[in-house]
Amino acid sequence: MLRCATKGPVPLPAEVPEVAWRAGIDLNPLDVNDADDVAWLEALVWPEQEFRLRRLRQAVAIAAKEPPLIVAGDLNNRLVHLAAQAPADAALVVFHSAVMAYLSADGRSRFRQTIQELRAGRGCHWLSNEGRMVIDQEDGSNVVPEVDPERIMGRFLLMHNGLPVAITGPHGQSLEWL
Ligand SMILES: C[S@@+](CC[C@H](N)C(=O)[O-])C[C@H]1O[C@@H](n2cnc3c(N)ncnc32)[C@H](O)[C@@H]1O
Repeated sequence: MLRCATKGPVPLPAEVPEVAWRAGIDLNPLDVNDADDVAWLEALVWPEQEFRLRRLRQAVAIAAKEPPLIVAGDLNNRLVHLAAQAPADAALVVFHSAVMAYLSADGRSRFRQTIQELRAGRGCHWLSNEGRMVIDQEDGSNVVPEVDPERIMGRFLLMHNGLPVAITGPHGQSLEWL
């Protein structure tokens, strides 16, 4: 169970959506069955944040029991092929969080192009949860329309299909609807 403090008229669903299929991409996926990998993940939890350590250990136990499909590689090289494996009759959702900052401007633009192609082809919902400086708005700048940058400071911007919908806690701990 992940908790999230919401603010504003968040259109919360009446029930948790049924997930038909899921998969992930990472340059360097860590293995929850490898003690060194788990020790590294635990070392990344900030001191005294015991609740995060407990949650991480719970997540590791779930992932060990129900291994998720994770593909190793660059998201720009893997996304189209992986998305094609999703059931054709399910709504495809592409979600990414805290990763655009690691791509070059070219890499980010290539990714947006891929998303546009997926949206125009089989259709997809694009959910981007990133720092506002690494995502382009409709006008090509990173100025979020009608939102004071101070309000986003230290938080992320959640965009649905390229349009800002909420300001979020970077770890998903809060969501303020715009
Ligand atoms: C700060 S972590 C964010 C992890 C997770 N998305 C989250 O929000 O908790 C960034 C992750 O992006 C991965 N990464 C960086 N560049 C990537 C790329 N070009 N393709 C795929 N994964 C990448 C890193 O390996 C790392 O696991």
